Amino acid sequence: MPNYVPEPFRIKMTEPIRLIPPAEREQAIQAAGYNVFALRAEDIYIDYLTDSGTGAMSQHQWAAMMAGDESYAGARSYYRLKEVMDAVFGFKYFVPTHQGRAAENILANLLVRPGMFVPSNMHFDTTEGNIRARGGRPTNLIRAEAYDPAARLDFKGNMDLAKLRAFIEEKGVENIPFGMITITNNAGGGQPVSMQNLREVAALYREYRIPFFIDACRFAENAYFIKLRETGYAQKAPLEIAQEMFSLADGATMSAKKDGIVNIGGFLAVNDEGLFERIRNELILREGFPTYGGLAGRDLDAMAVGFMEALEERYLEYRLAQTAYLGDSLLAAGIPIIEPPGAHAIYIDAKHLLEHIPQRELPGIALSVEIYKQGGIRAVELGTVAFGYIDPETGEEHLPELDLVRMAIPRRVYTQSHLDYTIATIKEIATRRKSLQGYKIVYQPRLMRHFTAKFQPL
Ligand SMILES: Cc1ncc(COP(=O)(O)O)c(C=O)c1O
Repeated sequence: MPNYVPEPFRIKMTEPIRLIPPAEREQAIQAAGYNVFALRAEDIYIDYLTDSGTGAMSQHQWAAMMAGDESYAGARSYYRLKEVMDAVFGFKYFVPTHQGRAAENILANLLVRPGMFVPSNMHFDTTEGNIRARGGRPTNLIRAEAYDPAARLDFKGNMDLAKLRAFIEEKGVENIPFGMITITNNAGGGQPVSMQNLREVAALYREYRIPFFIDACRFAENAYFIKLRETGYAQKAPLEIAQEMFSLADGATMSAKKDGIVNIGGFLAVNDEGLFERIRNELILREGFPTYGGLAGRDLDAMAVGFMEALEERYLEYRLAQTAYLGDSLLAAGIPIIEPPGAHAIYIDAKHLLEHIPQRELPGIALSVEIYKQGGIRAVELGTVAFGYIDPETGEEHLPELDLVRMAIPRRVYTQSHLDYTIATIKEIATRRKSLQGYKIVYQPRLMRHFTAKFQPL
């Protein structure tokens, strides 16, 4: 038997990709200021920039889209999505939104006031941004081992319960409008959260009467990790596991661009009727009527089908195995990554792979540039540039603990041979890693600098 799970689909529509010659790649990355965000997608052979909205839809999703109902109010497409929402997530009320951050925006706008705190295992950057935009303080209370790249734990995304209790006691219930947990934990390597942790976190929030929201972007992948790793779940279907996860919460935000396997879409769901009324009014102001919420009717149909497909066991088995294959092959070649491989992405530990390049000389940028030059592959730095900053008060440069390069795998897009090509590319770079040199920043905006910064080789 092969050491991978073959694709559980065959391909009936293709999109050409091409590897432009080395001299053109050199020119393209130079013109992009050595920032892979500024490359033209057509100059990229394999694109691991994100798994968000980049998945391939199935024949059933495309067929459902053709049957979409574009009525402004009360469309058939809405009721079709509602049926799936009820079956999978089970919250009393929901509104569709155009993507995850739109749901976060509404929630934060309604509930967060200046000086308030919102705890989570780890907030994703848009969630963090939406809380901060209202003067709130997002707080990460993940277990300590999450910060050790080599710690191999089954549920490295779990929240630290003792820290959470102490935090609530210290800050006061009146200053915590809601609590969250992100499944899987994207900002910490796509690591899952166990059902037991979800149960305990929910109980703690309930004890203090703090509403509990799940950031559900990768709920199906998290459910499958629970099936594989947590006692008592081996015989359960991912759908049943998902239902149990959401039965513990008071609401959820979701970007369906991940485990909805759609190119656009999301939702905000709650059990509280009063809160729902306020959400609905806010949605009408910002997104659209509550039965379409910033999307076309056909987008709702694609989501309805996508949620169920994301929970299919054969798909999930392949999905997690594909990511593990990429990660384990790199590890076997001595290339350090965040361990164990998560569900949606592999994070190379650039600081250790390129230990001859001081962190101030941006090893993550050096590696992402080289991966593009060598193989036409786009992988993105999540390290000194993405998370480092100049302290506005002291003027001192703050360097993050980790300097990573992330390869996020789009759903149902790349095949086994694309992965093998990727592994060969990175192994080749690793053999001559000492020849790689550092970079310096020559332009950076004040906030979110990694998207538009420009660099120069040293
Ligand atoms: C965990 C998590 N939450 C929220 C979001 C935001 O979703 P969107 O990009 O659809 O606004 C993302 C997107 O990457 C995410 O990974």
